[in-house]
Amino acid sequence: MEKIKTKSSLGLYVHIPFCLRKCFFCSFVVYIGKNNHKKKYLTCLEQELKEYSQKRIKTIYFGGGTPTFLNGDELTRLIKSVKANFLIEENCEFTIEANPDTIDFPKARLLKELGVNRVSIGAQTFSNRYLKFLGRTHQAKDVEKCFAALRKAGFDNITLDLMYGFPGQTLGELKDDIKKIIKFNSEHLSLYTLTVEPRSKFNIQNLKMPSTQRLGAFYTHITRALEKKGFAQYEISNFAKPGKQSEHNCIYWKCQDYIGLGAGAHSHFEGTRFWNTSSVPTYLRLAEKGKPTVDGKEKLNKDRRLLEALLFGLRMNEGVSLCILEKQFNAKFSKQTKEKISQFCKDEFLILKNSHLKTTLQGRLVLDELSVRLI
Ligand SMILES: C[S@@+](CC[C@H](N)C(=O)[O-])C[C@H]1O[C@@H](n2cnc3c(N)ncnc32)[C@H](O)[C@@H]1O
Ligand code: SF4
Repeated sequence: MEKIKTKSSLGLYVHIPFCLRKCFFCSFVVYIGKNNHKKKYLTCLEQELKEYSQKRIKTIYFGGGTPTFLNGDELTRLIKSVKANFLIEENCEFTIEANPDTIDFPKARLLKELGVNRVSIGAQTFSNRYLKFLGRTHQAKDVEKCFAALRKAGFDNITLDLMYGFPGQTLGELKDDIKKIIKFNSEHLSLYTLTVEPRSKFNIQNLKMPSTQRLGAFYTHITRALEKKGFAQYEISNFAKPGKQSEHNCIYWKCQDYIGLGAGAHSHFEGTRFWNTSSVPTYLRLAEKGKPTVDGKEKLNKDRRLLEALLFGLRMNEGVSLCILEKQFNAKFSKQTKEKISQFCKDEFLILKNSHLKTTLQGRLVLDELSVRLI
């Protein structure tokens, strides 16, 4: 296992691949598995987390799959193991991802008692027609019930996921979804354009996806409508009320260090990235034999780290300071990169002021493409 000598506090990501759904857009490592598989998986997770004993943790994120498919006893066992093994910082942000129809008041209260203080609800859309199109089992009203249960249990940091850009979706339908999601008055929102993932059911369907122009109009409406209602955009897809940015995800965008536990989970330490096998049966088999579950690793040289810090940093509205990054990684941006940056500034995709670089709204619309060209 990778030896990790770091004094700084880390992010902790725990992958819970279990899910009883088969959404048509989903490509996450999901695993139905039988009950005993869940027990085995928790045992393997406990074994893996002992490898990082006494590390200082500033954020915890249970992602999936659907972590809230674990029952009360399983969640209690896992969260107690995490607490017993790591030095958890006082104001540690502890997020769990949930499906709207997997949280009721008793489970919300239990999560609160166990120290979870942030919940991410996968609402996706409030149109039951599009929920059906996505292969979702929940109805729009389930989001209201789930949200109310979390508020009743005392959660003051809830984020909702919304997807948009469905085939045939009109601006009017999107405006309706935005109006409805704003009404929840959550602390945070994540808005994702529907992407057809290689391992998803949608990939075999010849979907007629919206044009770039239409997606541009949707995105412009979203950013303006949310800003008006107090949601400040801080990352391409993420909007937050003051002080409610996702601390865990900021660790990724700021290229800081984090531990990833479970099948398919990634870790990152001082420029070395490594990841576990994404196959759950293989993960179980290896862990049970006490064998390393790491499936691959890459050591990033300082030039690569500098470029990645630029690309990830540009996802955030605050942008990056080019000279601070160069100092941080003791490396220099190449002549080509600098030429591309100044071209993108001329094209009004980026703004460069006193070595500080950030995107324009136009730039955010095409950032994936700009990133490919910057590599
Ligand atoms: C790990 S997923 C799922 C969490 C939870 N199981 C659920 O479905 O609500 C986290 C979020 O990624 C987004 N997502 C997943 N697949 C996507 C896709 N193909 N295109 C766009 N967004 C996607 C969804 O908004 C989803 O809520
Ligand atoms: S999107 Fe979420 S609920 Fe749907 S199959 Fe994937 S993990 Fe399960």
